Amino acid sequence: MPLLAIVYFSITGTTEKLAHAVARGADDPADVALCRITGDDIVSGRFQNERLLETIDRADAVAFGSPTYIGGPAAQFKAFADASSDRWTQQRWANKIAAGFTTGACAGGDQLHTLTYFSILAAQHGMLWCGLDIPGGEDPGGRNRLGSQLGLATHLVDGALPQSDLNTAEYLGQRLAKLAKRNG
Ligand SMILES: Cc1cc2nc3c(=O)[nH]c(=O)nc-3n(C[C@H](O)[C@H](O)[C@H](O)COP(=O)(O)O)c2cc1C
Repeated sequence: MPLLAIVYFSITGTTEKLAHAVARGADDPADVALCRITGDDIVSGRFQNERLLETIDRADAVAFGSPTYIGGPAAQFKAFADASSDRWTQQRWANKIAAGFTTGACAGGDQLHTLTYFSILAAQHGMLWCGLDIPGGEDPGGRNRLGSQLGLATHLVDGALPQSDLNTAEYLGQRLAKLAKRNG
């Protein structure tokens, strides 16, 4: 069974809800490791949770998640990404499947920049990027509501995540798990 690692940062719980939905979607065809980045992982500005990095070493697929903060990933997520540079030197994460998800307060809150960052992080590591194959505005169930094909972009509506965003997250998890199985 392939292993999907879901690496995410969340303060007020929205990104965490998406992470759990990705996990639900992947659950059948894959084992899932939920890896939440916390402030305590960062000591003197450096991400120091080696166990989390080792979980990714073992994973076949990785989902990156962060809220969009000031038009990009949260600093805590970036600290994790910077700590992956030793792995980058050896391309230890090459050929793992990767995808990304983010959320924001606004519909057009520059979430694309966060997803673009995730895809470049994946490219730096030689990972294989998995986007969303749901055409925006075409899905009868309303998935991929914001029409983001690079990855899952969401935003809060009346202070909450729409169910269609959680359904999209489940779909992304399922797609990642299937691709990881095929790639294994
Ligand atoms: C420091 C900060 C910067 C933010 N910047 C943006 C932004 O650029 N675009 C946006 O749409 N929302 C922005 N937000 C809103 C968050 O993305 C939103 O509240 C999100 O749901 C938080 O995720 P979480 O619940 O997983 O912590 C910002 C929030 C904070 C605290």
